[in-house]
This record gives sequence, C-alpha cells and structure tokens, in this order.
Amino acid sequence: MAILDAPQEITDKLGAVDLKDVQGDLVFDHVSFSYDEDVPVLEDVSFHCEPGKMLALVGPTGVGKTTLTQLISRFYEPDAGHILIDGKDIDGVTLESLRRNIAPVLQDTFLFNGSIAENIAYDRPDATPEEIREASRAANIDADIMQMPDGYDTQVGERGVRLSGGQKQRVAIARAILRSAPIIILDEATASVDVETEQQIQRAIAGIAGKRTIIAIAHRLSTIRNADRILVIENGRITESGTHSELVALGGSYARMNEIQTAAAKSGGIV
Ligand SMILES: Nc1ncnc2c1ncn2[C@@H]1O[C@H](COP(=O)(O)OP(=O)(O)OP(=O)(O)O)[C@@H](O)[C@H]1O
Ligand SMILES: [Mg+2]
Repeated sequence: MAILDAPQEITDKLGAVDLKDVQGDLVFDHVSFSYDEDVPVLEDVSFHCEPGKMLALVGPTGVGKTTLTQLISRFYEPDAGHILIDGKDIDGVTLESLRRNIAPVLQDTFLFNGSIAENIAYDRPDATPEEIREASRAANIDADIMQMPDGYDTQVGERGVRLSGGQKQRVAIARAILRSAPIIILDEATASVDVETEQQIQRAIAGIAGKRTIIAIAHRLSTIRNADRILVIENGRITESGTHSELVALGGSYARMNEIQTAAAKSGGIV
C-alpha cells in the first residue's frame, strides 16, 4: 500500500552518481516533510549522526519517526531541507546505490519459504555457511536456530517453522550484518514484546553497535538506553536531544517516559 500510495514516482535525477565507500555519516539539514500539504509531519528537523554511532528516535505514536527513516531511503522526498550521507545530498545519488547501503530491520520482516540459512543470506546468496553462522551469532539468533529441528537447514515460512516477531527481527539483523550495509535502520513496530525478547534484541543490537551507523526507533526505552544520542520528537519537531542520562537529568518528556516505564517494569507490567 505504501508503494501504491506514493504520490509521485521517485527516480534517479539526471546526472545522479553512485554512493561509494560509504562511511555512514548522516545529516538532516532543516528537513521538513508532509504527505498532505495541509498536514505538516516533520518540521525543520536537523541532526548529525557520525559513522558507527547509534541515534535513537523516541516520541508518541504518529509523530513521524517511521516517516523520518523513510526519507533516508528516499521513499519520500523532503519538501524543504537536505539529507546528506557522507556529505553528499541523497537527492543526487542513484536510488540503487543509496538503498544498497541501508539495511532495514523490521519486525514484520519478510520470510520466504526456504531454509533459515537461505533467509538470512537473502541479500548475499553467495555467503558461505560460516559467514551465515557468524552473522547469526552477532545477531544473537544462532542459539535459536541450533534448537530448530534441522538447524540452519530448517524450513521456515508458510510451509515450515514459524518464527516469533523477535526472532524475525533478529533474522533481519543477521541479514543486515551479512549485507554489511553501513547504515542500519531499526524500526521497532510494537511495544508489545516480552522482556526476554527485548533483551535478546538488545544483545543483537549490541553485536553491531560501533561498527555501523544505527538509526533506531524504539518504544521501550531500555532498547535505546545506550544510544550515543536520543532525539525526542513531538509534534514533528525535535524537542529534546542528548544521551539517556542527559535527558533524564533534563527532566522533560524523556524523563517522564522513562519514569513511567521504570515504574511499570518494577510492578511487573510490560510497557
Ligand atoms: N503513506 C502515508 N500517507 C499519508 N499519511 C501518512 C502515511 N504514512 C504515515 N502517515 C501519517 O504521517 C504521520 C506520521 O506517521 P509515522 O508512521 O511516521 O509515525 P510514527 O512516529 O512512526 O508512529 P508509530 O510510533 O505509531 O510508529 C501520521 O499522522 C500518519 O498518519
Ligand atoms: Mg512508526
């Protein structure tokens, strides 16, 4: 539906160049965007994420977090401002080279009928079994796979073993690692993951932290506690920016969200 709804087709600009040897430096420079002229979604968003750093986006539902990440892959284009990767405006790069350098990690990751190994090597059909296993270990999914009936040869998808949302997300992280895309976008679709799954995903993220630029949207603040920078987005604007401890000390929206989630965790509830 997202594709059908796209207002105009986005194609390579005349003279577009390939993004090469991407380090993963990402800049939003006064970016504004709306799907519908009358309803601004993002307004004057600016930030800089250095290569290998983790930037987290938090904020209420519907504020534009997913939209922001879709602008990075140019599924939509800003109405104003610029997005730069390694100092190059993505407006002037080929879509193919742009998207090759960005690995999405979604909880509703698509699994096709085939073995779990084939699914992990989806973007790298030439990967060796050792490479697949190494990526799976880093993504913290290896132990789950080894417990499946045929290990890495276990059939998954409609006609095979079904994976949980958290397992699918870790498969997506393994795929992203194998692809060695310098920019990873993690969009946690739901807050309704249990504590165990949450911790496993956290460990998977820790496995890639420092090596890739990670843009992470999280509903559970524990996921992004260690992010290098956290942006709070409210009403389409960045309202707070800093590390977890800086934002807690600031005593604003983030501190309030953190208090609510910490209290819920203590009383055994899941937020
Ligand atoms: N394809 C689309 N066409 C028109 N409006 C859209 C489209 N996708 C999202 N929107 C609207 O844009 C706004 C931002 O949506 P977005 O999905 O980016 O929010 P979000 O912060 O990711 O929310 P959540 O935390 O629930 O995932 C919402 O008002 C949403 O209804
Ligand atoms: Mg979203």
